[in-house]
Amino acid sequence: MSKNFYITTAISYVNGSPHLGHAYEAILTDVMARFKRLDGFNVKFLTGTDEHGQKVAKTAETNGMEPKAFCDKTAAEFEAMTETLNISNDDFIRTTQDRHYTASKAIWSAIKDNNPDDIYLSKYDGWYSVRDEAYFTESELEKGEDGNFYTPGGAPVEWVEEPCYFFRLSAYTDKLLKFYEDNPGFIVPQSRKNEIVSFVKDGLQDISISRTNFKWGVPVPDDPDHVMYVWLDALTNYITGVGYPNTDCDEYKTFWPADIHVIGKDIIRFHCVYWPAFLMSANLELPKQVFAHGFINVEGQKMSKSVGNVIAPQNLIDMFGLDQTRYLLMREVPHGQDGNFSEDHAFQRINSDLANSLGNLVQRTLSMIYKNCDAAIPNPNDFTGDDKKLLNEIYDCFPTLRKHADKMEFHRVLEGIWKIIAHANAYVDEQAPWALRKNDPERMKTVLYVLAEAIRGFAILVLPYTPEAGHKILDRLSVPEDERLFEYVSADHALSGGIIIEKPEGVFPRLEMKEEAA
Ligand code: MSP
Repeated sequence: MSKNFYITTAISYVNGSPHLGHAYEAILTDVMARFKRLDGFNVKFLTGTDEHGQKVAKTAETNGMEPKAFCDKTAAEFEAMTETLNISNDDFIRTTQDRHYTASKAIWSAIKDNNPDDIYLSKYDGWYSVRDEAYFTESELEKGEDGNFYTPGGAPVEWVEEPCYFFRLSAYTDKLLKFYEDNPGFIVPQSRKNEIVSFVKDGLQDISISRTNFKWGVPVPDDPDHVMYVWLDALTNYITGVGYPNTDCDEYKTFWPADIHVIGKDIIRFHCVYWPAFLMSANLELPKQVFAHGFINVEGQKMSKSVGNVIAPQNLIDMFGLDQTRYLLMREVPHGQDGNFSEDHAFQRINSDLANSLGNLVQRTLSMIYKNCDAAIPNPNDFTGDDKKLLNEIYDCFPTLRKHADKMEFHRVLEGIWKIIAHANAYVDEQAPWALRKNDPERMKTVLYVLAEAIRGFAILVLPYTPEAGHKILDRLSVPEDERLFEYVSADHALSGGIIIEKPEGVFPRLEMKEEAA
């Protein structure tokens, strides 16, 4: 029986175009989804767009467009980004879809039916940040030089007075604390967990879950003067994606509760406090984990429109290539921490790891086989200790890589794979197959076989990060599609001698310009 795995990204606001931060989250989640598929899991991967709320409504208005028409335009950019980045999502949800209206209304009704006291009508008088789509108490705000209040993230706030429905979050303080205690892996990394636990320990206030001074949202069941608070609607996407409210359908039964919600550090409160409380109230199961990644800065600075350093994912692909960009982001950003994008460093990293280490290994090995072995994988003779050492290092590395991957520590996985690639390059230099060609052609065949088999292993191991290049290498080696799984990185599935290879072409060309300028 196959193991199931459901993973999601946050859904992006469509008030602007996709940027490097969105790309990073999509790639990180994609890498995990691909890793799990290659590890034999039945994976569902959901991503999409968050289209309601005041922020999107205002931006549409500024652009002189109806909200839905504006959303159609920007959501298309996000959907295109998933294709450009080779994201393997199984579904793309838009919160303006009918299925999502049905699910959002259903969760509201489920909360009301299961816990009638959890929703009550009242009035909100207080601060609201449209940028964050979040309510703030005055004590959480800071006064700017202009005398106005700002959120800790620097967003302006506006005073709001409106009738609204409240959710009795205050009733969930103890239940949530118990849930965190019983499920120590729910919030990752630990530093974020500490932040949330201390926030909840201070006691929770009820929150407003509807808005009345604009219309762009899902109407509240039985009271259409109200639209649902955008975060209640947005969080619900994770169950819309598996067929909610039909909790009897295969999709829901197979994939809910989700294994991991991958999100950025700025939205943990919504995912680790509000979302589990809504689900508890609606009597639905809670997700197993929320993984909060850090933020990507650019040349040491926060990305922002006012600084003018916002990077569109396509710019990086144009500069470095797609797989190179994916590799760079996964290699450079440590687990759960902020990462920095620096152009000079990117050129160095890509040239050193991809062009020089892996690219060169593949190119020189396959060229030697092509030229000296009639373009066929040679049949090896007996392996020496050195041969076995290299191959066993590859065959034995997976359990450690999996441990890192399960914690989403992909920079560690890559560090581990590249250590072995360095070993393989040292092996080429030591064995010097070009010299063996004259002195000991039989030994040359064994060395080239060992290298080709090592490359088969590397190509499978790198598939989550650099899928195009990995498949290209495996195509060269004629490895069948159904053998491109982690379990095939073993001696039992080693290459057979005699396989004809195509004329090798470089997989990772060396990037010239910037490194030389530097
Ligand atoms: N719409 C909400 C999420 C709702 S999920 C039910 C939202 N949207 S967003 O467009 O502002 O952000 C989408 C994701 O991108 C979030 O997880 C956010 O943390 C992430 N990032 C936004 N900027 C980022 C960086 N500079 N770096 C890394 N991730 C960043 O929040």
